[in-house]
Amino acid sequence: MKSFHIITFGCQMNEHDSERMSGILQSQGLVPAASVEDAEMVILNTCSIREKAEQKFYSELGRLAHLKGRDGKRITIAVAGCIAQQEGKKLLSRTPSVDLVIGPSDIARLSVMVEQRKDGGRRVVETGGDPEYHHKLVPAARTDGLKAWVSIMYGCDNFCTYCVVPYLRGRERSRPLRDIVAEVRGLADCGYREITFLGQNVNSYGKGLEDSCSFPELLRQVQDIDGIERIRFVTSHPRDLSDGLIGAIRDLPKVCESIHLPVQSGSDRVLVSMNRRYTSDEYRKKVLQLRDAVPSVSLTTDIIVGFPGETNEDFAMTLQILRDVQFDTIFAFKYSKRPNTRALDLPGHLQEQVKEERLEQVFALQKEITLRKNRQHVGSVQEVLVEGESRKGGTLTGRTRGNMAVNFAGPRHLKGSLAKVRITSAGPNSLSGELCA
Ligand code: 5AD
Ligand code: SF4
Repeated sequence: MKSFHIITFGCQMNEHDSERMSGILQSQGLVPAASVEDAEMVILNTCSIREKAEQKFYSELGRLAHLKGRDGKRITIAVAGCIAQQEGKKLLSRTPSVDLVIGPSDIARLSVMVEQRKDGGRRVVETGGDPEYHHKLVPAARTDGLKAWVSIMYGCDNFCTYCVVPYLRGRERSRPLRDIVAEVRGLADCGYREITFLGQNVNSYGKGLEDSCSFPELLRQVQDIDGIERIRFVTSHPRDLSDGLIGAIRDLPKVCESIHLPVQSGSDRVLVSMNRRYTSDEYRKKVLQLRDAVPSVSLTTDIIVGFPGETNEDFAMTLQILRDVQFDTIFAFKYSKRPNTRALDLPGHLQEQVKEERLEQVFALQKEITLRKNRQHVGSVQEVLVEGESRKGGTLTGRTRGNMAVNFAGPRHLKGSLAKVRITSAGPNSLSGELCA
């Protein structure tokens, strides 16, 4: 086996896990292939957060199995990520085309597994979860050059009743501070300018560490690293949004004024049923506190519509919280049944059509809000980290501290620098502007 190709589904954590699997395989001498057709090994790094994500994986697997069967092409198929963890060895018995199954906390075993399967060796499953994974320094093959993801913790202890993640990614484990700081220093030395800390619940970073450390403390340590210009993080649980973190966003110049704070629902009854452990008023208060301390903060959220038992009144409260809070952007989903989760047994599961209609309403409302919010930026001067030429060509593109995409004319050599851009117009997904002299 000489070449590999990775197809990634799901969240940023999965994107970053794919970088790590790529790093492991490259250190083993394998080379990345541009497409499935050119690869001897294909890894499907899967997501099972909603049924739709699973369906996408199974249809991709079907396509690959077909390719594998054709002309006796020798292609090794590995399934990684959350579906690998969920299904384990069942994947081997049900899908003869699959050669390797590897869970998210077993990635460090990938090279050994590839060796085992080489030359017609046995099919291998590793989903036991390495209890020391958070101490391992797994190489990551990053390709961006400017912006990097850095995992700071794995797993989740929150057990929201709809969510499969705690069952698949296990209990919360934080990486030691010194390992994270060393990784970020290394990234700065390689020219990276922005890092995004990843964790299911970054605000509770540090729990259980030998040398205790909080998330704001981690931010402070990284603030001092030369070369890094911007620090972002996802995801924060509203209940754990501490005064310390709000203070860090306000006071640390490199920490961007941008936070993803999933509210899920505007109804207290539904929030209890989801086991979110905050009320909609508590959420609103946190937002006020945040905006009081950091007026320019950009705020994004996740919404689930059609949770079991959600009445028209409950749903109206979700629309109301969207109107009240005025998020910059939202990610909204129809509730999806997930194996082993507590919500499965709740009464009042809704019909698909009801969920569909509610989702449409949420999107329609937020579309107006987002456009209005985007237009408020017109006339302002924004700091933009220049990422390079825009996809359409002809202009440069980059992101504001609030994580909005901005297109503007300028010389190519600005790539990688921070530019001042005056915003001249706003669309639903991006801003346009002109470079300040
Ligand atoms: N159904 C629909 N959406 C879900 N999410 C998590 N689990 C489910 C589910 N079973 C959404 C939540 C979460 C985001 C990552 O995905 O909004 O914040
Ligand atoms: Fe990421 Fe959750 Fe999907 Fe796993 S299930 S890939 S943790 S979004």
